[in-house]
Amino acid sequence: MVTVDDENNLNNFEELISTDPDIDVEKYSWDKVKDALERGVLRATNISVKKVILRAFREGNLVEINGYIDKHTMLPQKFTLASDRKVRIVPYGSAARGGAYIATGVVIMPPSYVNVGAYVDEGTMIDSHVLVGSCAQIGKRVHLSAGVQIGGVLEPIGNRPVIIEDDVFIGAGSVIVEGILVKRRAVIAPGVILSKGLRIYDLVNEVVLERGAAVPEGAVVVPGVRAISNEKSWATQNGLYLQTPIIVKYRDQKSDASLTLEDALR
Ligand SMILES: CC(C)(COP(=O)(O)OP(=O)(O)OC[C@H]1O[C@@H](n2cnc3c(N)ncnc32)[C@H](O)[C@@H]1OP(=O)(O)O)[C@@H](O)C(=O)NCCC(=O)NCCS
Repeated sequence: MVTVDDENNLNNFEELISTDPDIDVEKYSWDKVKDALERGVLRATNISVKKVILRAFREGNLVEINGYIDKHTMLPQKFTLASDRKVRIVPYGSAARGGAYIATGVVIMPPSYVNVGAYVDEGTMIDSHVLVGSCAQIGKRVHLSAGVQIGGVLEPIGNRPVIIEDDVFIGAGSVIVEGILVKRRAVIAPGVILSKGLRIYDLVNEVVLERGAAVPEGAVVVPGVRAISNEKSWATQNGLYLQTPIIVKYRDQKSDASLTLEDALR
């Protein structure tokens, strides 16, 4: 791995991060790191990026901007047609914070917020009331339906961001936090909660995935309930259940039909 001690040899930040995406960037300025994040050439999956972001919060001074107040290091990005990315940020009430990357063809419906360090790849739809938390990594052609909450990595302290791979569909109101990985083409039905403490029950393969395990490729996950473990008989006596994500099937043509999206909206 290249280290920052080699900085003088390579003497080029761009070259360093393209040589090794996991290079320790902690000693670099926020401006440099932020610029690389906004261009999508550096990702917040590199843990040292988070340290630079936290430093930028600490070192930021409060400033006024159009009637709002935030740290001067965390101001929203401005998008222009000239950037040629065909990003659409529909007015009013959405923002992508500085240090987030918004790729070509992304649509952001108001009100939505994309926090610092997040990466949103090509053709993804961010519907109304969506939060893309700090450092979250969202793949290509992902659909984040209205009210989806993708947790950030800054608070509470976590190291791995939530990662949503290409072509995933996330139904309205779902909550995905604590560094959960959702693999390609998975479908998360409306109202599912995925966090490190939950096991996923896979009805198809008849296995229980470990707590916090990745959602497998193409899995269709719905919100379910399960009995509370036997030794807690008081729970049984009282008819209590816990909520749990359940894989009811793996994506097929029927699921695809139910998820067909309208190209004209993009
Ligand atoms: C998850 C989804 C894609 C599954 O569609 P599908 O592949 O056609 O699923 P099926 O109809 O074959 O259902 C398979 C099983 O899962 C169950 N199931 C499907 N969706 C469910 C849900 N949301 N909650 C609980 N169970 C569900 C079905 O009842 C069925 O169980 P059964 O065989 O015991 O009756 C679909 O239900 C869905 O939620 N679509 C997204 C809707 C949406 O969010 N629209 C907003 C767009 S902005």
